[in-house]
Amino acid sequence: MAIILNEKQSLFTLQTKNSMYQMKADEYGALLHTYYGKKTENIDYSYLISMQDNGFSGNPYGNAHDRAYSFDTLPQEYPVYGGGDFRRSALMVRYGAGHCALELHYDSYRIIKGKYSIPGLPAVYAEERNQVDTLIVTLKDDQEDIFVHLYYGVMEDLDMITRTVRVENRGKDKVVLERVMSMCLDQQYGDYDFLTFYGKHAMERELSRMPVHHGVQSAGSVRGASSHQYNPFVILADHKAEETKGDCYGVSFLYSGDFLAETEYDQINQTRLVMGIHPDNFRFILEPGEEFWAPEAAMVYSDKGFENMSHIYHKAFRNNLCRGKYKNARRPVLLNNWEGTYFDFNGEKLVQMAEEAAEMGVELFVLDDGWFGKRDSDNSGLGDWTVNEKKLGCTLKELSDRIHELGLTFGIWFEPECVSEDSDLYREHPEWALKAPGKKPMLSRSQLVLDFSRAEVREHIFAQMCSVLDSARIEYVKWDFNRSISDIYSAGLSAERQGEVAHRYVLGLYDILERITQRYPDLLIEGCSGGGGRFDAGMLYYTPQIWCSDDTDAIERLKIQYGTSFAYPVSTVGAHVSASPNHQTGRKTPISTRAAAAMAGTFGYELDPGKLNARDKEEIHDQIEVFKKYYDLIQQGDYYRLTNPYGEKAYHAWEFAAPDGREALVSVVAVKVYANPAPVIIKLRGLREDKYYRLNGKSYLGGALMYAGLPLPQPKEEYESWNFHLVMEK
Ligand code: GLA
Repeated sequence: MAIILNEKQSLFTLQTKNSMYQMKADEYGALLHTYYGKKTENIDYSYLISMQDNGFSGNPYGNAHDRAYSFDTLPQEYPVYGGGDFRRSALMVRYGAGHCALELHYDSYRIIKGKYSIPGLPAVYAEERNQVDTLIVTLKDDQEDIFVHLYYGVMEDLDMITRTVRVENRGKDKVVLERVMSMCLDQQYGDYDFLTFYGKHAMERELSRMPVHHGVQSAGSVRGASSHQYNPFVILADHKAEETKGDCYGVSFLYSGDFLAETEYDQINQTRLVMGIHPDNFRFILEPGEEFWAPEAAMVYSDKGFENMSHIYHKAFRNNLCRGKYKNARRPVLLNNWEGTYFDFNGEKLVQMAEEAAEMGVELFVLDDGWFGKRDSDNSGLGDWTVNEKKLGCTLKELSDRIHELGLTFGIWFEPECVSEDSDLYREHPEWALKAPGKKPMLSRSQLVLDFSRAEVREHIFAQMCSVLDSARIEYVKWDFNRSISDIYSAGLSAERQGEVAHRYVLGLYDILERITQRYPDLLIEGCSGGGGRFDAGMLYYTPQIWCSDDTDAIERLKIQYGTSFAYPVSTVGAHVSASPNHQTGRKTPISTRAAAAMAGTFGYELDPGKLNARDKEEIHDQIEVFKKYYDLIQQGDYYRLTNPYGEKAYHAWEFAAPDGREALVSVVAVKVYANPAPVIIKLRGLREDKYYRLNGKSYLGGALMYAGLPLPQPKEEYESWNFHLVMEK
């Protein structure tokens, strides 16, 4: 049983395979957080809570005689603003009278079989109802106006606990939600590091690890999208935690808009972590009888370091978040024309590229930006989703048919959420773009963002997309979004509701994505936002793969993909082999190394095959065969970060091992070469200690490879790479 109740003690214990989470409603009715960590005896962990008068820490009215009892110091399950807890709160509700004095008390609980879902928002799901239990704990204000329902999805086998919150206004007046976090973790013990994944366009998800110190540390986005700058995934980890050992807590926020993760180390050295929608752009009105659902947060605790935590997320996101045909079906090896041609193509050029791609074994040809409206540069055309037949020299159907005749499937690029000022759509409907009345909007890449909070705007774009998708055989769509959102104002909402626009935009985005996925269940959609500007677990519910970065340099990608791998499985990581010298960095790398990096992802090519020499073409042919051969191992296997790419290291290495340890593929890139180099030995993981493995005609003991290691060859040149395929001997 994953949810254990002790009604007498008002104790709720959630157990997954290896973790345990506990909360307790105390005599005063406050819901306290008592434990989250390794699964152990289910005793009452509230003994950990120390109470003393800390001075200037107020006492709730009903318990005012006890000066040691204060919300200012108690570890709370869902702390609210305005009731004497002065730390970062999870909930802030402004009443009609203008105050925010809310005090929540335990009301009731409910357990339901199966995993809850959230209307209009992505959520981790369970294939079978009996794999998951949901606990709903209800808190209410004494006035019986605000009810807060805390949802816990206890995914026992997956080792994951998901959370969401539903706030209900049962009062007579409207209230304004100014802050609704999806989770809070209040730990009274432990010294932690806060790990976040920061970045920029073309260098996303770099790892930052900082000790939690007194004050507040945060990572978040107010860009309207989860952003290149911070990823909605954070970790609290013991100072000594590393890949294979130590306590760590991961929190992934399944949301693609503004978010905030905050840690606070308080006056008595307790650490609180909250995560949810960023409050800066959020002010949501609840009329009497209305309710608000917060997006989901997925939490994982690991006592075996980051690797185990990542494996849990990888499995959960692959099997319990991604949906549709391509959750399991093998993804096609694609060739995308973007870096091959940019906007400079016509139908003949594309067919030529597709012909050569087909000869090399490519399976899907993707036509990127520039096929529609007036779009020969990024200054115009967005919003006019009609095929530019003049440029193509044929209809889209004719082009798609010719590509299919070559044995390839066909895909195209869209940027449905944006509009160019120079477009028919904008000329006709300037009020459909997000911009403040009477103000000049901020342009970015010469474009504005369409107001997806409005149903009629979504309807128009949906209809245009459908008419393109119905006009030809199209098996793949790249869904791009190439700017941050500013000038948040919707002409479709009243002045007092403008604080809802940013969230309603994301709900609108999810709505149109859901409609597209329902209408085209076999369509493979790859998410993108200038590369990895919206690489988050929310998008994965609709797009099982996301273009990881506009930086296709194989060496830089090692870092980007390393950071990405902490939460996201390789099956979600869009990765392509591009031309050398690389277009972003000018770096020259061997095509084998570019392929090794791209194989730690969905794998494809993004270059003009007409510019390749015969040797490279042959090599690409072989690479595709190799990728197909190892597909299951790469996509379904356990991913191991054998090294980290930071610092002056000679090599970077990673490994895919079959979950039963029968087979492994180790990839190594020589990132730096030295004269008279020292020997390098790397320790493998995920093998069976007592079994022998065949590698390059020799036999190695699994235990030896893991604990003593595998000596690496010396590189003959910079950026040389190797793939080592190990197979367990009978
Ligand atoms: C974004 C994407 C690229 C490409 C261009 C097209 O930058 O990340 O892959 O599709 O847009 O304009």
